[in-house]
Amino acid sequence: MVRKTVIHSTRLMILLMVLFLVGCDSPKPEAFLTSQVSPDEYDPKEWGKAYPLHYESWLKTKEAKPAGKSRYKKGWDDDKVVYDKLSEFPFLGLLYQGWGFGIEYNEPRGHYYAVTDQFEIDPSRVSSGGVCLACKTPFHRKMTETHGLDYLKKPYLEAVGMLPEGLQDLGPACYDCHLPDPMTVTTKKAHLETALAMINKTEPSRQELRTLACAQCHVTYSVPRDENMKTAGDVVLPWKNATWGDISIEGIIADLLSDPSRLEWTQKATGFKMPFIRHPEFEVFSRGSVHFNAGVACADCHMPFTRSGGYKISDHNVTSPLKADLRACLQCHTQSKEWLTERIFHTQDRTASLVLRAGYNTATCARLFQTIHTAQEEGTTVDSAIYNQAKDFYMQAFLRLVFVNAENSTGFHNPAEAGRILGDAIAFSGKSEALLRQLLAGAGMNPQMEVELDLGKTLNNRGQAGLNFRPEQEFKDPFGVQEKLLSEKARGL
Ligand code: HEC
Ligand code: HEC
Ligand code: HEC
Ligand code: HEC
Repeated sequence: MVRKTVIHSTRLMILLMVLFLVGCDSPKPEAFLTSQVSPDEYDPKEWGKAYPLHYESWLKTKEAKPAGKSRYKKGWDDDKVVYDKLSEFPFLGLLYQGWGFGIEYNEPRGHYYAVTDQFEIDPSRVSSGGVCLACKTPFHRKMTETHGLDYLKKPYLEAVGMLPEGLQDLGPACYDCHLPDPMTVTTKKAHLETALAMINKTEPSRQELRTLACAQCHVTYSVPRDENMKTAGDVVLPWKNATWGDISIEGIIADLLSDPSRLEWTQKATGFKMPFIRHPEFEVFSRGSVHFNAGVACADCHMPFTRSGGYKISDHNVTSPLKADLRACLQCHTQSKEWLTERIFHTQDRTASLVLRAGYNTATCARLFQTIHTAQEEGTTVDSAIYNQAKDFYMQAFLRLVFVNAENSTGFHNPAEAGRILGDAIAFSGKSEALLRQLLAGAGMNPQMEVELDLGKTLNNRGQAGLNFRPEQEFKDPFGVQEKLLSEKARGL
């Protein structure tokens, strides 16, 4: 059940009502001083002089969140453990080996740390240079417009050094989401502007902006590469085949595979040059989810009204709704917190189970390609039509798997769509495996009943810090099916 009054852009009305209700026992809104911030003000401290409660709330993204509330997004909780995505999903060690993501890949934490975490992560993750700051610093657009490739290609720390002193570690800031009159939410990122123009969404509504403010960064993008795999421009979104409300994985894959400059890295096991997919929250959510179609925005669930110093403000301590005790959901839903929590876990357990299926299947194909490539080096020839079909299916499976696994809600933002895409990833990888086995058999080789994945080799002693597999962080199949399909011996952990 949903409280009808709170949906769509009636939030504005509610806010206005609250504004006029000063004096009754409901919390008062903060006094809004709309003329004190200059249009070029990047420094949140300056915004904080006009909007102290919002500043304080925004600063809270620095705080660790209560542990034990989220099942799949432990991120930076008050257990102070850094959760390693490669240990959570061990097949990623094999699939991402070959570049930074296969070395260190951690669960996200609060906005406060966006740039800091780039300082702290293995340097391989920021080897593309200044372009890595696209979804981090509010200065990215200005720097790109002023310095172009000089800034975009510059070694990461030198590019950071080009940012104004004192604000070099500033992540998502007031400036990114607001015009000087902060009652107006807006977007500032050039890559989103370009992509929205591609899908003819040039005049978004106020409610759409409450989603697009987040889509500035919570979208997938490519760092375009030149022939030497060096950064060749600012980030681009693969929306060539998309329309508003329909940025499909099929369209994204077609876009990525149509353009060699989108091939960003070489996968170690297979030697294939590959595109990549990052945090596609906006794409998954906006493709016909129940909430998107009902007019609900990201901010409705991640920035609910909250009480602060006797006032009511949009919570700028953006985090998992589970870690905020589902306050957001309860502003629309009449069900209990327990019921809603169970619904979230119900979806996430099923998504995680399918991710494991798609992940191990795809990893199995990667090892089979490796075997075939070794045989080819030793003079074996294989049928190229079958090989190419197997490779195409493999790429289709891999990108679908990454799409859902890199999406940060573990299926919740669009349960049916996540399930559909993982089902297809399992189908494509199954077909690919069958073709690869056919090739091996045809070449007189006998692929074992179980393909050895040897994951331990890919997960231990990673990068400068020598990171290792953390067994206690692994997500096991909540339904116990995965263990029946692949033995511990074959996983090699
Ligand atoms: C300027 C880029 C940017 C914008 C705009 C942005 N985010 Fe983020 N967001 C990030 C980055 C980067 C991280 C990961 C930070 C880290 O792990 O260091 C993140 C992390 C998060 C997290 C995880 C927080 C936690 O406690 O673990 C949530 C939830 C989130 N963002 C939601 C949103 C929502 C909702 C919006 C829009 C209201 C939004 N973000 C706008 C870049 C952005
Ligand atoms: C109907 C409510 C709802 C809407 C709308 C929504 N989210 Fe979420 N979001 C959730 C829930 C629930 C989770 C799962 C949190 C967890 O597992 O701890 C989540 C997870 C996330 C995470 C990972 C959080 C973490 O702690 O790492 C990010 C990032 C995020 N959402 C961003 C967005 C963005 C961007 C949008 C809009 C494109 C959006 N969300 C729309 C409810 C929502
Ligand atoms: C990631 C995007 C984002 C960032 C960063 C951000 N805001 Fe907001 N802000 C929003 C959204 C979304 C709303 C809700 C507006 C609405 O309901 O239309 C909002 C609302 C507001 C409001 C209107 C009153 C209210 O509480 O709804 C003020 C004032 C405000 N923000 C100030 C700030 C200040 C000051 C900062 C920096 C310290 C900041 N914001 C950073 C997205 C952001
Ligand atoms: C702004 C209002 C709003 C917020 C906030 C909101 N919801 Fe919803 N939710 C809806 C609407 C509208 C529907 C569609 C149901 C209907 O039409 O009866 C819905 C449907 C659902 C459904 C049924 C989905 C389905 O596939 O049938 C679940 C489960 C749900 N919401 C959970 C949540 C959770 C959990 C949160 C918080 C993380 C949340 N909602 C936040 C408005 C909201």
